[in-house]
Amino acid sequence: MGGLDRIVILDFGSQTTALIGRRIRELGIYAEILPGDATLSDEDLAGVHGIILSGSPQSVYDGGAQVDQRIYQCGLPLLGICYGLQRMTVDLGGRVEALAKREAGGIEVTIGLKSPSILKKPNWDAMNFFSGFLLRDDLSLWNIFTGNKCISSFNAWMSHGDTLVELAPGFVEAGSSANGYPAIVYHREKPWFGLQFHPEVSHCELGNAILASFVTGVCRCPAVWNMKDYLDKTVAALQTAAADKTILLLISGGVDSTVAAALLLRALPPEQLHLMYLDTGLMRKDETIEVRQILKSLGARHIHIVHCADEFFAALAGLTAPEEKRTAIGDLFIRIQEREVEKLNLPGDYLLVQGTLYTDLIESGKGVGKKARLIKSHHNVGSPLVEAKRAVGKILEPLDKLYKDEVRALGRLLGIDEAVVGRHPFPGPGLAVRILGEVTAEKCATLREADALFISELKARQNPLTGKCLYDEIWQAFAVLLPLRSVGVAGDERRYGWVLALRAVTSTDGMTADVYPFNAKDIIEISTLITNTVQEIGRITFDISSKPPATIEWE
Ligand code: XMP
Repeated sequence: MGGLDRIVILDFGSQTTALIGRRIRELGIYAEILPGDATLSDEDLAGVHGIILSGSPQSVYDGGAQVDQRIYQCGLPLLGICYGLQRMTVDLGGRVEALAKREAGGIEVTIGLKSPSILKKPNWDAMNFFSGFLLRDDLSLWNIFTGNKCISSFNAWMSHGDTLVELAPGFVEAGSSANGYPAIVYHREKPWFGLQFHPEVSHCELGNAILASFVTGVCRCPAVWNMKDYLDKTVAALQTAAADKTILLLISGGVDSTVAAALLLRALPPEQLHLMYLDTGLMRKDETIEVRQILKSLGARHIHIVHCADEFFAALAGLTAPEEKRTAIGDLFIRIQEREVEKLNLPGDYLLVQGTLYTDLIESGKGVGKKARLIKSHHNVGSPLVEAKRAVGKILEPLDKLYKDEVRALGRLLGIDEAVVGRHPFPGPGLAVRILGEVTAEKCATLREADALFISELKARQNPLTGKCLYDEIWQAFAVLLPLRSVGVAGDERRYGWVLALRAVTSTDGMTADVYPFNAKDIIEISTLITNTVQEIGRITFDISSKPPATIEWE
């Protein structure tokens, strides 16, 4: 990344590290995430305007990850978040201990100095930091520096089992939690700050303003990150990395691999490029036909569509546990891919390209810091073929620094049709993770029909309040077939049909999600249409869980 104006985030494994980067990029500032224990050379720090230390599932006194001590000597502004603050505190001579009871969820933070502190000289960094998120006419700013009675508080988002019991020398407490623990600290003379809460989480009041205050007010990092620049740089990088090489791109049919294909076709002659797509039988309705059309319209020449549904259904027979199903699909996917790639007779040094997103890497536990805990295995991230190619440096993942909506923006810049760019995400293992329990071809056919009806209705309906099409307002919608039958009636007959769940969420990047608040009329009409049309479905329920604690997919 040498030289690019940016903020570095040291990742100690928090599930929300990616969100910190996301928030900063929304400000037009590039954020680079590095492993928390990375050694930082002068070259690594060229262009860096500030360093953020992330949270972690570990404790500082419990083998928690160390940090390169250079960060305390390099003169750059530092912001410790949760574990990051505790790491700084211990490294700089303070103390951290376990709490009797965790602080978790929304907790009020009151701003103001705990004990009066008279500053010998003005601390402009602290002034810039606090004035960025406290209103000027709010006396709190004054209180921070005078220690007068504080008047300002906000609802912060916390998740920690340890607390600071002694601040490191030079630090001042400028905010505390409703339970009386330090929540905001800053250094009297250095541009160093610490938050015990998570400003990156959307439920944290003032969170965005606090992060913005740090990166712009304290770090003064220029906002130079934009998609056009990214496109130009990535095209140039692909031309250098892939000049004259044969390239294989694994296409899933989703937005990501389609954008990756468009990117490659922008950078390189189509003869160089082989696109392989496996029709696993677990795809959405008409997906394979559409994929071929889109790739052709992008100028692709070598499109290899492999029909292998029977093999997938055979591999899934009898499997009911989610991770077993994912593993079986992932393994077979790779075996078939290897077999089919072999048939293509590509040169041994061909490059493998994948449309892996940043969030795929984080959620599969392959986050750049490699500390995040596994939530679900994503089969397109850790397969042996991919890992073998990665080990010999023959893999390119041109989207691996991007979030979903950034990929969409890139797709639009590349001229991809809005219907493709705006398409809801679809998981690699396809309908298999939306059929709870055992997957069969019949269940897939039932779910495919129900899902297609749901989606076409969302495309046809508008929200009267916003005038927007429901499909575009929703980030991801789909149907899930439950392993349950329930009694119903059709005419004079009793029916024993499957139970279907409908899911529709709003989100910006899939890391967190809220339930889409349907008008009752829409969801009832859609549900009636599905039960009237798809005979096998007897009953429909609507999933009202947000992420967290639920995930978006059911498996
Ligand atoms: P969850 O269910 O983890 O999903 O909240 C977050 C986003 O990721 C998608 N997803 C996957 N995408 N391979 C993928 O390419 C997978 O194995 C996979 N699992 C979940 C999910 O659809 C949602 O958009």
